[in-house]
Order: sequence, then C-alpha cells, then structure tokens
Amino acid sequence: MNTFLQYNPTKLYFGKGEVLKLSAVLEKGLKVLVVYGGGSIKRNGVYGDVMTELGKIDAKVFELSGVEPNPRLSTVHRGVDICKTEGIDFLLAVGGGSVIDCTKAISAGAKYDGDAWDLITRKAPITDVLPFGTVLTLAATGSEMNDVSVITNWETKDKLGWGSPLVFPAFSILDPSYTFSVPRDQTVYGIVDSMSHALESYFHRTENTPMIDGFIESLLRTAIQTGPKLLEDLNSFKHRETMMYISTTAFNGSLANGTDGGDWATHRIEHAISAIYDIPHGGGLAILFPNWLEHVLEEDPSRIKQLAVNVFGISPEGKDDKEVAKEGAKALRDFWSSLGAPSTLRDYDIDDSEFDAMVEKTFIKPGVGVYKEMDRESVRDILKRSL
Ligand code: NZQ
Ligand code: ZN
Repeated sequence: MNTFLQYNPTKLYFGKGEVLKLSAVLEKGLKVLVVYGGGSIKRNGVYGDVMTELGKIDAKVFELSGVEPNPRLSTVHRGVDICKTEGIDFLLAVGGGSVIDCTKAISAGAKYDGDAWDLITRKAPITDVLPFGTVLTLAATGSEMNDVSVITNWETKDKLGWGSPLVFPAFSILDPSYTFSVPRDQTVYGIVDSMSHALESYFHRTENTPMIDGFIESLLRTAIQTGPKLLEDLNSFKHRETMMYISTTAFNGSLANGTDGGDWATHRIEHAISAIYDIPHGGGLAILFPNWLEHVLEEDPSRIKQLAVNVFGISPEGKDDKEVAKEGAKALRDFWSSLGAPSTLRDYDIDDSEFDAMVEKTFIKPGVGVYKEMDRESVRDILKRSL
C-alpha cells in the first residue's frame, strides 16, 4: 500500500425524512441561494420540502434554476452574479451531480474577482469559497461527498474536471425516496457511472491492496445484484437506498485509500466526447469502459482476469489469462446492455468525424491513465472499438 490521508469533511445525513436536518444545521436568517435544474424537484415535491425547511429558519431565499445536465460555465456565471449582487451567505444545491457541480463552481467563483473559468482551468488558485450543502436527488456521481466538479465551457467546447479540498459540501442530505422519480434511463446511467467509478479505482498499480480490492469487488457485486431489481421496481425504497449508498461510496475517496488512485482514462475520454456531443455521462461510460478493458487486456490481462473471476464469477479452469479477461469484459458489456445502456457511439448518432478533436480534448490535461498510460493512438483505438 501507499501512504495515505483519509480526509472527508462532508457530513452525510442518510435516510428517509432526513431533509428535516436542514433547519437544524443552518443558522437562522441566512441569505440562501437554492440551485436546481430543469424542474424535476418541483414535480416530485422535493422543492416544497426544502422550502418548508428554509422557512423554519427564516432564510432569505434566492433561486438559480435551469442548471443543465453537463452544467455550463454560463450558468456558473449567472450564479456568481447573484451571489455577488445579493451578498449570499450559503448555497444549497438540490439535484443531481450537475446541480452540485455547478454549485461548487459558484461557491469558488463567488469569492474570486475574475472569471470562474480561471479557477477551473487552474490559472488562478482557489483560496476562499462560499459554504454550501446539498440535497441529492439522483444516485450517480458521488459529487455529494467529494471535492470534484465538472464544468463545460460551451463556447470552447471544453468539459473540465477540477477540484479543491475547499469544495467538499459542508453537508449532504440523502433521502432515497427523493430518487423514486428518477426515470429509468437516468437510473441506468447512475448505475453505470457508480460502477465505473469503482472500476476505475480498481485499476491501480499499487501492490498489496487486498482490503481495498475486496471492498471494490463487493461494491460491484452488490450493484450487479441490485441494479436489475431496481429497474423492475423504480419505487423500491430498499433498492434505491442500496444504489444511493453505492454511488456515494464509489467516489468519496474511500476506494482510493492506499492506492495510486486508479485509472480514470475512460472518464477523460468520456468528458471529451460529451464536451462535443452533450451526451449523458453514464451513457458515454457504458460505451467506452468495456472497450477500454478490451484494449488493455491485449497488453496486461492480469487484473481484468481478477475482476472476471471475483466479480462476474467466471471460471478460470483450463483457460489462459487473456481468455478469462475477455470473458470478463464481455460480462460487463452484457450486464450493462441487459439494463438497457447504450453500447456503441452510433447509439447517439456519433461517427468518427470528430475523433481528432476527441483525442486532443482527452489530453487537455497531461497524463491519461495509470494502469495503462494512454497515448493518442491508444485513445483512438478505444474510440474506434466504440463505433
Ligand atoms: O434538471 P432536472 O430537472 O433536475 O432533471 C435532471 C436531469 O435532467 C434529472 N433528475 C435529477 N434528479 C431527478 C431527476 N429527474 C427526476 N427525478 C429526480 N429525482 O436527471 C437528469 C440528469 O441529471 P444530472 O445531474 O445531469 O445527472 P448526474 O447526477 O448523472 O450528473 C452528471 C454530471 O456530473 C458529472 C458528469 O460529467 C455530468 O456533467 N460528473 C461529476 C462528478 C463529480 N462531481 O464527482 C464525477 C462524475 O464522474 C461525472 O463526471
Ligand atoms: Zn463518472
């Protein structure tokens, strides 16, 4: 194992009715900017619950609505303007990963004199932020308990991941019943995204990590058992609860303890694709990840074999490592396809015409891949396999 620091300051309130904690944790009389998306929270009652709580503490409420899936810099700018003009004290994100990521960028941008894009591109350091909390409505990204955010600059078509220990949420409220209304396709994307975070953590190069490897394998097996049952009954509290806990755990730092952090090449390639085509993040990952496995196993099948045996129950008897690894990659593809996830870029009407741009955008930051360091040809090969 490597030396590691386990640090996560986000207070997690998990379970039915935990929205009532809002009025307990927030000070009276705060100026609160409530950030949300296209209106799902108004249709499913979450907005009403949140406003009732804010009413109890006499909060002065401002609203920023219309945060897009794949949130845009222009929306961050709108939020920053409200914060600066109105002297906002606290931000409350109510939504999925996009709303939370946008809120993180607003929280940093509100305390910076220039354009928030400077912070996202690391042109300027993040030294101060407005505090914020979240009420999660979609189990997928883990943004509710991590210090990462992903913002798209639609003018330059750049989708950039960035982070700072200052943008961990102060608290996050996770009520699984708030995810009942998540439609089937978004539920599938959430399962794929959570599993991808676990898988990417699994593909590290650190020696002697049996505890963390077993933890990840267990999380993946649980997702494989729970996903299909949840899709049969989208209003099942117990399956929503299991998936919500999985998605938060899959990307809150705990799966990287003692390792080099894993291999996030697939995320880098997906961000490059969705920067250009604005496709759902989980859909892009479902297409790419099995092809990343196929690409990597040509050189080193060892860990993919371990995944195949320990997660998918594939027997290694009488087979060489590559055969077992290939069966593992196919098992992952088959599982996601059985949920209804896309499997080729053509499912989103994407052809090879923008491959050059996708390859370049994958390398927008240097260093892609840890288990296998990617060069431009490797990325192109994965894209070709994905057509
Ligand atoms: O906009 P509203 O009306 O809220 O509708 C949303 C949106 O259309 C809907 N939705 C959310 N909760 C709902 C609901 N519909 C009905 N009932 C509910 N309870 O779902 C749609 C998608 O929402 P979005 O927030 O975009 O999805 P997700 O949570 O998957 O977030 C995706 C974004 O997060 C980034 C992705 O790149 C993408 O931009 N990521 C962020 C990460 C992080 N911060 O750690 C890591 C991830 O790997 C990922 O890259
Ligand atoms: Zn993701």
